[in-house]
Amino acid sequence: MMERFLDIDLTPYNSFGVPARADRMVTFDSREELRELLADGEILAGRWGVLSGGNNILFTQDFRGTLLHPVGKGIEVLSSDVSRVRVRVQAGLEWDDLVAWAVERGLWGLENLSLIPGYVGAAPVQNIGAYGAEAKDTVEAVELLDTGTLAPLTLAAAHCGFGYRESVFKGVLRGRAVITAVVFSLGRVPRPSLGYGDLARETAALGGPSLENIRRAVTAIRRRKLPDPKETGNAGSFFKNPVVERSVAERLKERYPDLPLYPAQDEAHCKLPAGWLIDRAGWKGHARPTVGVHGAQALVLVNRGGATGTEVLGLASDIRRDVEERFGVRIETEVNVW
Ligand code: EPU
Repeated sequence: MMERFLDIDLTPYNSFGVPARADRMVTFDSREELRELLADGEILAGRWGVLSGGNNILFTQDFRGTLLHPVGKGIEVLSSDVSRVRVRVQAGLEWDDLVAWAVERGLWGLENLSLIPGYVGAAPVQNIGAYGAEAKDTVEAVELLDTGTLAPLTLAAAHCGFGYRESVFKGVLRGRAVITAVVFSLGRVPRPSLGYGDLARETAALGGPSLENIRRAVTAIRRRKLPDPKETGNAGSFFKNPVVERSVAERLKERYPDLPLYPAQDEAHCKLPAGWLIDRAGWKGHARPTVGVHGAQALVLVNRGGATGTEVLGLASDIRRDVEERFGVRIETEVNVW
C-alpha cells in the first residue's frame, strides 16, 4: 500500500543504525502502484533513490529528496514441472524469508544464501553471494520500472550484467531502474554445493547434505562470523574482495605464503580476501569510541554504539590507506555510501 512519510528518521531503516533523515519516503507495493506514484513527475523532478532493506548502505548525511521503499512481499508460482519451479517474488520480501520458503518446499538453489540480510529486490543489484553461490545462479529475470519512460520492463538475467557483487543496476541503470520483483528458477533435483570452506564438514556433522542441513550449517557459520545487525549495527562485508593481476597476487604470495588466493573471472586475475589483508594489517577487533572492526571477521565494520556515518567512513578510509601502503592493493567499498 502506498504511504507517504515526511522528514523521516532513517535510523531504523539502515542496518548500521546511524542517524540520518530523509525529506520524504514513499512506500510502494507493486510496479503498477509505483508507476501511478511517479506518473505526475513530481517525485522524479527532485532527488530520489531506492531504500530497500538498508543493509548495504551507509548514510553520511541527510537525504534531501524522496526515498522509494518497496513493501510488496508476495511470492507467486509461475510454473512448476518435475525438475523446476519458477517463482515471481516482490521486491519488499526479506531475502531470508524467501530462502526459508524454498527450503520448506524442497526447492534447491538458494540454501547457501541463507541468512543474508536484505530484501529480495536488492539481491540482483549486488548479485549477493556467499558460500560458493550467487543470486545470479537462480535469477531468471528482473522486473523493473524504467523511470525515464515509466515503462515496465523485464530484464532477462543474461542482460543484467551480473559479476562479482556487480550488475547493470549498479552501472548503467543506476538512478534509472526501480526493481519491483525478481523471477527465480529453483530446482527440484538435489544439487548440494558444499565446496566452500567448512560447509561440507558442518553439513556432514548435521547428518548429510539435505536442504535443511545446508541451511542450518550456513546459518551457524554466519552466526559465528558475522554480527547480527539487530544487536550490533553493521552492513556485512564493508569492502569487496579485490581482484588483482595474477602476477601481483603471486608476488604477494611469495612474501606471505599463507595468503589465500581465489579464482577470478579469468586466468590472468586472482581474487584476494580483503578480510585477510585487513586482519594481517592488524585491524581485526580494532575499537574506537563509537566504531570498530568486528573481532571474528575483519571485513565487517561495526557501530559500537552511537556512531555516525562519517565516523564509520573515517575508519574505512584509514583501513583502506593502511592496506594499500602495506600490500599495494586497493580495496573498494562494497557498501553504498550516501
Ligand atoms: N580471513 C582472515 N581474517 C579475517 C577474515 C577473513 O584471515 O578477519 C581469511 C579467512 O581465513 C579466509 C579468507 O580470508 O581464508 C576469506 O574469508 P571468509 O571465508 O570469511 O570470506 P570473505 O571473503 O571474507 C566473502 C563475502 C561474504 C560471504 C563470505 C562467505 C565478500 C566481500 N564477502 O567474505 O559476504 O558471506 O565470503 O562466502 O565477497 C557480504 O557480502 O556482506 C558478505 C558477508
